[in-house]
Amino acid sequence: MIQFRDQVRDTDREIVATLTAATGFFSEEEVDIARGLVEEALATGVASGYEFSFAERNEGATPHCVGYVCFGSIPATQSSFDVYWIVVDPAAQRQGIGLGLLKEVERRIRTLGGERIYIDTASRAQYAPTHRFYERAGYERVAFLEDFYAPQDGKLIFCKRVAPRN
Ligand SMILES: CC(C)(COP(=O)(O)OP(=O)(O)OC[C@H]1O[C@@H](n2cnc3c(N)ncnc32)[C@H](O)[C@@H]1OP(=O)(O)O)[C@@H](O)C(=O)NCCC(=O)NCCS
Repeated sequence: MIQFRDQVRDTDREIVATLTAATGFFSEEEVDIARGLVEEALATGVASGYEFSFAERNEGATPHCVGYVCFGSIPATQSSFDVYWIVVDPAAQRQGIGLGLLKEVERRIRTLGGERIYIDTASRAQYAPTHRFYERAGYERVAFLEDFYAPQDGKLIFCKRVAPRN
């Protein structure tokens, strides 16, 4: 049974660093960036532009975080949002937690008046399961920027409309 928590706590710095590092998908620099977004949210709250949902499962009486997502409204757009990070503990993957996190984020974004959600990801082969995950969740590939991150590692942009066009 997964529960979602929106409030960011001091202990989330280490939770986010541990989860992102455990996947083996992110460099040290990227892990630092992920932790830095928690710091910003702790320091300035809503003004940071970073919102979080943490997926927690009870282990005994204590909730244990098994994944998280970080998202925010894209500045200077009317109703577009970015999902910046989504990570599930490798030991808890393929159990529907990632899809649950995206559903939770889509619900929150609709509540905030959002209409379109964008997700950037690397195109390199390591991320092929991630691409399948986004497609399974109803996201469409809308752009490809060749060699964006490095030679042979482009940027793919996925998008999903979560509210009807006005
Ligand atoms: C991408 C990620 C968040 C998915 O989380 P998850 O909890 O394992 O995903 P789910 O269990 O909800 O998977 C839903 C569906 O996505 C697809 N999918 C997910 N992982 C997959 C994989 N490794 N291979 C193939 N398809 C996959 C499947 O269709 C899956 O449904 P199924 O298990 O019934 O076949 C997780 O694998 C992860 O943290 N990856 C490393 C970090 C990353 O790439 N983050 C995104 C970039 S910031």
